[in-house]
Amino acid sequence: MRRLSMTVVLLALMTVGSGLFAAPPAPGQPTVLITGSNRGIGLAFVAHYAQAGWNVIATCRDPASADELRSLQAAHPKVVIEALDVTDHARIDALADSYRDWPIDLLVNNAGMLGALPAQTVGGLDFALFEQMMAVNAYGPLKMSEAFADHVAASDQKKIVALTSGLSSISMTVKMPGFYYYRMSKAALNMGMRGLRTDMRSRGIVVALIAPGMVDTRLLYDSGWRGKSLTPAQSVTGMAAHIATLTAEDPGEIVNTDGKIIPW
Ligand SMILES: NC(=O)c1ccc[n+]([C@@H]2O[C@H](COP(=O)([O-])OP(=O)(O)OC[C@H]3O[C@@H](n4cnc5c(N)ncnc54)[C@H](OP(=O)(O)O)[C@@H]3O)[C@@H](O)[C@H]2O)c1
Repeated sequence: MRRLSMTVVLLALMTVGSGLFAAPPAPGQPTVLITGSNRGIGLAFVAHYAQAGWNVIATCRDPASADELRSLQAAHPKVVIEALDVTDHARIDALADSYRDWPIDLLVNNAGMLGALPAQTVGGLDFALFEQMMAVNAYGPLKMSEAFADHVAASDQKKIVALTSGLSSISMTVKMPGFYYYRMSKAALNMGMRGLRTDMRSRGIVVALIAPGMVDTRLLYDSGWRGKSLTPAQSVTGMAAHIATLTAEDPGEIVNTDGKIIPW
């Protein structure tokens, strides 16, 4: 009997991949999958949806060092932690496969990188960094969306969002020099999500671009910004309110956390 219950536990573990999960998904509750959830805005997304009672698949590159995320998991047993580098396409496919019977209501493509600023300034351009930033900021969200499209299509809410930035805006570029790779990779993300929006419509999936505002995270600090900023929780509260209102009729603009439209 004891051996049988052990087998059941092992089988349950296998159905959710290698995650450090605390409990199987609660039926009847929506599920969100978040990338880059060990710190900053991603961590705040985990806290937000966990507190709202959702099943949360919190992915990050190194779960073993994700102390704050693991503390959140301890308080919210419906949080599952999975190792995921969004540039590792084989791992993305394997994760999608291990969750194949688990509908995902909301995919949050949050993981992103700013990159070293001197290496994306004319005179010091380092194109190896450009490749890396495209892989994280532009290809990663597209690959994730492709790999998890079936899971989202099988859910009730059917939403895919990606975090972009005001720096992706072509019409606002004049205001600040530099940041080439960040701007270009986020502009590529915008176009990818715009195309995906059209592609996914027939499956009932809404694809949206959201911007978090200026948020007090390592990324903002590394950008040199020392002005007014939101806490990650404040930013996520605004973005989650917008996500909750998304419908198939959404016009597909880039919406900032305060509800303002960011021009293309
Ligand atoms: N903060 C702002 O003011 C601001 C403004 C506009 C847009 N955004 C966007 O908001 C999102 C979150 O940014 P943040 O401010 O929270 O930045 P952050 O504190 O620097 O966090 C970035 C997150 O992305 C993860 N990440 C980086 N490369 C990854 C990869 N290859 N695979 C998986 N995860 C990876 C990081 O994981 P590690 O810890 O392993 O590095 C970390 O969890 C980003 O897309 C960013 O561009 C932020």
